[in-house]
Formats: sequence, structure tokens, C-alpha cells
Amino acid sequence: MAKNDIHGGRKVTLKLPYLEMHIVDHCNLNCELCSHFSNLAPKRFIELEWFHKQLVRLLEVVGSIERLALLGGEPTLHPQLLDFVHLSRKYLPGAHIEIATNGILLGRMGSDFWEALSRNGVALRITYYPKMPPGADRKAVARLAAEYGVSCRVQDVGKNKDWFYLLNTKGDSDPIVAFANCPSKFCHTLYEGRFYLCPRPAYIHFWNMVHTEPIQVTWSDYVEIFRDDARRAMERYLGKISRSEPLEFCRWCPERRQSAKWVSAAVRRHSTSVSRKVLGWLQRG
Ligand SMILES: C[S@@+](CC[C@H](N)C(=O)[O-])C[C@H]1O[C@@H](n2cnc3c(N)ncnc32)[C@H](O)[C@@H]1O
Ligand code: SF4
Ligand code: SF4
Repeated sequence: MAKNDIHGGRKVTLKLPYLEMHIVDHCNLNCELCSHFSNLAPKRFIELEWFHKQLVRLLEVVGSIERLALLGGEPTLHPQLLDFVHLSRKYLPGAHIEIATNGILLGRMGSDFWEALSRNGVALRITYYPKMPPGADRKAVARLAAEYGVSCRVQDVGKNKDWFYLLNTKGDSDPIVAFANCPSKFCHTLYEGRFYLCPRPAYIHFWNMVHTEPIQVTWSDYVEIFRDDARRAMERYLGKISRSEPLEFCRWCPERRQSAKWVSAAVRRHSTSVSRKVLGWLQRG
């Protein structure tokens, strides 16, 4: 449950219960209705130095982060993944840190990967999808995680995890209702120097790239963390949650959670050699 620690105007450390950061924008799967619009995102690996700068600045602004998820897109595509692991642990020594992944590449990871996760106490949060390439060997992954003592939480779309619609493209939802029923409002996101309550406005520019009617993000939907007054802006912004005040952006989200069928689109515009292999399989499947 997200809450901030401002009591009676007394300024204390703001505690962020949960934060998500992309280390890769694109993906090697192509889920329609991806909540980060990574199925539409151009290929981009986040630079370690930029990640570092944003994390350090956010810590100056909020004081502490209890849980950090490194994700994307698909974070295991990043060639410097382990540098992100070390850096995150260095700055968040007591936090729960996890890598959220579709698991496709885990079976190919070497001992350096498993040892680094084990040594840094970094967990895996794996989402398995109804269509996975044959290389995604779930049993091998479970065996390796157990062998190296890496904590591993598995969600299986269609079994113990629901899939749902993301947008009301008419933009006429009642924002209070959409916000009240929103399952994503605690998935706080730091992206491109801006802090957002949820991933939707953070990544909507990927959706806008391929649609003629853009969905607008307004200044009140986020906090610019590098501004001098970021601390005060953050207090006001996080206060929205405790007062159940929606973002302006909430009018673009469905008022009620609506289940959808998971499908992967056949063609990706921005594929890597790995994702081409995966997609080759999906297209045949
Ligand atoms: C955007 S993904 C990024 C990490 C990784 N690629 C993965 O799929 O686990 C983060 C989480 O969002 C979930 N997600 C994305 N779109 C969703 C949707 N439309 N409905 C429900 N969950 C969704 C994914 O299943 C995953 O658990
Ligand atoms: S695996 Fe699916 S949900 Fe995860 S980032 Fe890729 S496209 Fe999005
Ligand atoms: S914009 Fe509002 S309703 Fe939409 S995901 Fe974010 S918090 Fe939820």
C-alpha cells in the first residue's frame, strides 16, 4: 500500500514503497496491450550513467525506496544488466530489489548472472505467457534459481495472473472512478527524469508514435525530479494518493477493470536478433 510519511506538516523522510525503472524500452515478446507499450517501443537500452543519475536524485528527493523493480520492456536484453544490479544494490542496501522478466532468456544466463543475483540478494519476478519459445525452459530456470538461492516469484498469464485492457481512447472516463478502481496506481515509475504514479502516462509516447490521435500527458501527471522544488512537488503529488485524487490522465483509463485475452502480435518493427528468433517461433505457433 503506497503512503507517504508526512504527518501533521512535520517533514520526515518520504518513503517510496515501490518504484519501477526501465533499463530497456523494447522487448523480445510482443504482447498486445503491454502496459508499458513496449510492444510499440523503439529499441533502446537505458544508459547506466543516466539510470545512476536519476536514482541518486530521486533518493535525494524522497529519502528512501523500499522496493525497486528493474524492468522494461525486457530487462534481460540489456548487455550491462549486472551493472544495474550492482548499482541498485549499492544505493539501496536494505531494499527489496527484483528483476521483472518474461523469462525467455533466463535459461541461457551463465553462472555470473546467477551468482550476481545471489550475492546481491536480488530476486526474479517472472511472468510466463501462454505462448513461449521452446528455449524458455521453466524447469531449468526453477532449478538454477534454487541452486543459487535466488528468490523467484512466478506469475502465469491465463493461470494465476489476469490480463486487462489499458485505455479508454475516448478519454471520457470519470477520473475519480478510474483512479479508485485502478490496479496500477501504486506502480510508481521513474522515467526520463520524471516521477509518475503509474506507468501509463510515462510510456504513452510509444502508443502515440503509432496512433494519429495522441493522448496528452499534462504537467500535473508527473514530478520533474531535477527541479529545485522537486521535494515540495513530490509531497503534493504523493498526497494525491492518500486523498484519493486522480491524475488528469486517469480519464484515459477504463473506469473498471476489464479482462482481455492475451495475444502476441505477429510482427515487430524493432526486433533484435534474439527477438527475431522468438518471433519466428511465435509466427509459426
Ligand atoms: C511491462 S512488463 C515488463 C517486464 C517483463 N517484460 C514481463 O513481462 O514480466 C511488467 C508486468 O506488467 C504486466 N502487464 C503488462 N501488460 C499487462 C496487461 N495488459 N494486463 C495485465 N498485466 C500486464 C506483465 O505481465 C508483467 O508482469
Ligand atoms: S513481455 Fe509483454 S508485457 Fe512484458 S514488456 Fe514485453 S511486451 Fe510488455
Ligand atoms: S492514469 Fe490513473 S487510472 Fe490510469 S493507470 Fe495511472 S493511476 Fe491508474
